[in-house]
Amino acid sequence: MELFDVYSLFDVAPVRARGCTVWDDKGQEYLDLYGGHAVISVGHCHPHYVAALKEQLDRIGFYSNSVRNPLQEQLAKRIGEVSGYEDYSLFLDNSGAESNENAAKLASFHTGKDRIIAFRRSFHGRTSGAVALTDNPAIISPFNAHHRVTFCDLNDGTAVADELAKGGVAAVIVEGIQGCGGIHVPEPGFLQHLSRLCEHYHAALILDEVQSGYGRTGKFFAHQWAGIRPDIITLGKGIANGFPCGGILISPAFRPRKGMLGTTFGGNYLACAAALAVLDIIEQEDLVENARVVGEYLKAHLPQSPRIKEVRGRGLMLGIEMNESVAPLRKALLYDKHIFTGVAGTNMIRLLAPLCLTQAEADRFLQAFNEVLAQ
Ligand SMILES: Cc1ncc(COP(=O)(O)O)c(C=O)c1O
Repeated sequence: MELFDVYSLFDVAPVRARGCTVWDDKGQEYLDLYGGHAVISVGHCHPHYVAALKEQLDRIGFYSNSVRNPLQEQLAKRIGEVSGYEDYSLFLDNSGAESNENAAKLASFHTGKDRIIAFRRSFHGRTSGAVALTDNPAIISPFNAHHRVTFCDLNDGTAVADELAKGGVAAVIVEGIQGCGGIHVPEPGFLQHLSRLCEHYHAALILDEVQSGYGRTGKFFAHQWAGIRPDIITLGKGIANGFPCGGILISPAFRPRKGMLGTTFGGNYLACAAALAVLDIIEQEDLVENARVVGEYLKAHLPQSPRIKEVRGRGLMLGIEMNESVAPLRKALLYDKHIFTGVAGTNMIRLLAPLCLTQAEADRFLQAFNEVLAQ
């Protein structure tokens, strides 16, 4: 049997990793400024993380959600404390898409309405509801196309107000910073406006923090730069540093009902142990602040070049938009300089480094980037 060929692959096979460094099967070392697509939050194979998972595996790896799981309770308490959402509740699932799916479902149950407002250039995942909320017709099958979704331009408060006024809107969903769509940062005033509008029209405000959350932008959640408190916050990627895990934080206004949400694997012992270890490391190593400081350093020291159109983002969620296709630059960075980077669209290099990136590692990228630009 062969693999179903849906991914464009680089010819590199990582076999070992530590911190922001990855080694391939030939022993070549790489600097990781992609973090496995924003997933590696506390660095690869952190000893505390590895020990926590091994220890948990020796105790109990899995039981279902039909019994009490003290690790889920600990995790809810810890996420509440570190994020400032102690009065919210936590539902654990397995991925970013599933988190958005659950958020949309919850908003619809709560309001009794079925339409959702999303934004142009959004990405919310690949499952049926999440992909319907994603502004990319190429990945929406006819089966996914029946959801009632309206797309507005990001930062266009008037368009959202007009749509809400038409009625039937259960939720507005917005990314803390649009990631796959090209690092577009919602204006703080726009998020504040959304928050007021949602309250007025009894629609839930869902903040998708799957990529922008968990410290990546220099605050625990990107929306905290705007000082708002959404009704539902969705999590994934960095929450467990690569162990599959997702979750949603739910405002106290939402009342649970038995059976309302559910999952087989969500919140399993291994995922919880991984997520708890991630929070230990984030706190012990002050990684949210590190993401802010090293991200600002990186942004401030990027070369001035007529080939660069614009640099956008916050902390360690940065996009370098070029006036040209970035494919040759990324190839040169990977194969000549041995640096992993991400991409958005055709013209943007997307940097999503682990939150433990050091200034020296940022310098290594800056020097390499200068050199490939000069080639
Ligand atoms: C903002 C955002 N939401 C949701 C998702 C989907 O997450 P997953 O691939 O874990 O389902 C992604 C993945 O890139 C994302 O960037």
